[in-house]
Amino acid sequence: MNQSATRLNTEELNLALNLLRAGELVGIPTETVYGLAADASQPEAVAKIFAAKGRPADHPVIVHIAGVEQLAAWAQNIPDEAYLLAQHFWPGPLTLILERQAHVSDAVTGGQNTVGLRAPAHPITQQLLQHFGGGLAAPSANQFGHVSPTTAAHVRGEFSEEVLQLVLDGGACDVGVESTIVSLVGDKPKLLRPGGVSREAIEAVLGDSLEHHTNQYTAKQRVSGLLDSHYAPRTTLITGQAARLQECIAEKLAQNQKVVLICQEINTKLDIEQFLMPSSPQAYAQQIYATLRQLDLQRFDTLFLALPPNTTEWLAIHDRLARAAHHRY
Ligand code: TXA
Ligand code: MG
Repeated sequence: MNQSATRLNTEELNLALNLLRAGELVGIPTETVYGLAADASQPEAVAKIFAAKGRPADHPVIVHIAGVEQLAAWAQNIPDEAYLLAQHFWPGPLTLILERQAHVSDAVTGGQNTVGLRAPAHPITQQLLQHFGGGLAAPSANQFGHVSPTTAAHVRGEFSEEVLQLVLDGGACDVGVESTIVSLVGDKPKLLRPGGVSREAIEAVLGDSLEHHTNQYTAKQRVSGLLDSHYAPRTTLITGQAARLQECIAEKLAQNQKVVLICQEINTKLDIEQFLMPSSPQAYAQQIYATLRQLDLQRFDTLFLALPPNTTEWLAIHDRLARAAHHRY
């Protein structure tokens, strides 16, 4: 994140506040990915998010709040674990699913009796939230199913100016993958989406293990990030262990396809373009969406990706890659 991108001047701040209060959308930077924000207390404003994204109306959106002080304004029957986690990880990449307050609209919750709440850490959005006072409903600022945006330019590429007048530029996102989602509704805390805060860190604070519920997609607990084909580039993406991809790469080359291999180690035996990714999970996460977007613009017929190690620090990245891939080996 560059230094100039940590604070809004009065003019920018007022423009954003006026648009939000008038029920319009604003693109906001967060530490995970950019969000497409609307005033969470105006159902018509929230409806504009769904229209802009082409997102099914029954998918709930996260409400962004300034901090733990606002928790009880949006949720009720809040268990102690929620305060414990919020105090440890907020502001930061953790979303808590809690029982909603009665005023929280169906437009936000997708008709469920729960609400997802998160206090984002990006200084610009913190500043905005503190002046706004209310909550900002915001999914990732991309067309439904497409790669999430990690720069303001990515957001501008997703929506016309007519739909989205203002995108606040907060530089490139630090974390690069979405927040971890933990449900605190029901008898045991559940991990619904791995993300910016590791499962181990949450378990350490709770002193208990988290049940892992990805791939669960039921009418009761809808998590759109768990649908097949999400976070996907437009070019066909094929993922797998490096060794297992070789045969498929050879096949595509025999068909005269233009291909690239996204990898963490250059394979000198392969005479194709290779795109080197970082070896640490933090740096990899920070770059993966921008990489997929960049390669998507280069007219490849197929993107191949050699999967990173299968250890716990890579959980969120594996989750996103599995959903972004058109085919997995
Ligand atoms: O890091 C993030 O979480 C980013 C930034 C912008 O904050 N937001 C984000 O939003 O990833 P979105 O809409 O792309 O994904 C949010 C996920 C969705 O899968 C949604 O279904 C789930 O959160 N969600 C929201 N409210 C929920 C609820 N009440 N119960 C279950 N899942 C919920
Ligand atoms: Mg999303």
